[in-house]
Amino acid sequence: MSNVDYREELENILKEAKCEIEKTDNSKDLNDLRVKYLGKSGIVTALMKKLKDLTPEERPNFGKVVNELRDSIETLLEAQKEKISETEKMSAYQKLWVDPTMPGARRSVGHAHILTKVQKELEDIFISMGFSVVEGPEIEESWFNFDALNTPEWHPARDSHDSFYIDDKLLLRTHTSPVQVRTMLSRKPPLAIVSPGRVYRRDYDATHLPMFTQMEGLYVDHDVTVRHLKYFLEEFAKRTLGESAKIRLRPSFFPFTEPSFEVDIYFNNRWFEVLGCGMVHPNVFKNVGYDPEEWRGLAFGFGVERITMVKYGVKDIRDLVRNDLRFLENW
Ligand code: PHE
Repeated sequence: MSNVDYREELENILKEAKCEIEKTDNSKDLNDLRVKYLGKSGIVTALMKKLKDLTPEERPNFGKVVNELRDSIETLLEAQKEKISETEKMSAYQKLWVDPTMPGARRSVGHAHILTKVQKELEDIFISMGFSVVEGPEIEESWFNFDALNTPEWHPARDSHDSFYIDDKLLLRTHTSPVQVRTMLSRKPPLAIVSPGRVYRRDYDATHLPMFTQMEGLYVDHDVTVRHLKYFLEEFAKRTLGESAKIRLRPSFFPFTEPSFEVDIYFNNRWFEVLGCGMVHPNVFKNVGYDPEEWRGLAFGFGVERITMVKYGVKDIRDLVRNDLRFLENW
């Protein structure tokens, strides 16, 4: 084999390899080419095997050029490998590509329920008048819910048809007034608190829910009178519903207040019955260890749903718990 012969042959192999390698566009084809040229029975390996047929003088030179050929092909393969992995990466990016100018998926952000908003608003009004906010348990002992509030065994409110009893002693509280008792037992007068929370009664119609929200108020001090009571309630009505709102007190009865009143609020040309109130009964003071000769107290309790209905013109109280977004989204 002459010098010229094999040089030409090797150059052709290199040209062919370059051409093939540069055409490949994926790692599998590229690997096939590596096998074809550099593999155990590949073209370049076969050339190496020819060494033994050459004369000793020819061998070193031939070996050198075949090695060069192998290195060149190796370099071409490596370069193409780089290129392919780059385009493969790009096409993976293409698949993930996001058009930032497309309109986004709109995520709806919720808001507090109308009752929660009104409750917070009412709390803030009383806080601004010096009251603090306290809470009590919804599962209550009948002593706190009734006895301590001067409500004896025979009182109709204790009828199991009106209340949800858990056992003989425990029930779902029927009003927030037991928080008056809990507060007076744990604090010393003078004190002024409001206590919002859920209460439970066996009622269900357009104006009554079996579970609703009350806010209790209690102010105990020396020389507290009905005038203070009227002032707080009038102030509360005007701040909630606006300056045009008026209140009126009607005589009423609660076992734990004396005298007792129902309060109506005048708003949008109508009177609404919204709360019960009165001066803390001496027996209640005795039950919590306060001296009725020394202390006077005013107490009130109103329905947060009622206030919400008056303020926003809600006709059916049940709308407040139906979870119908068409209703709730209005506020
Ligand atoms: N607890 C009474 C009710 O649920 C309301 C009330 C509270 C009355 C405080 C007087 C004093 O109807």
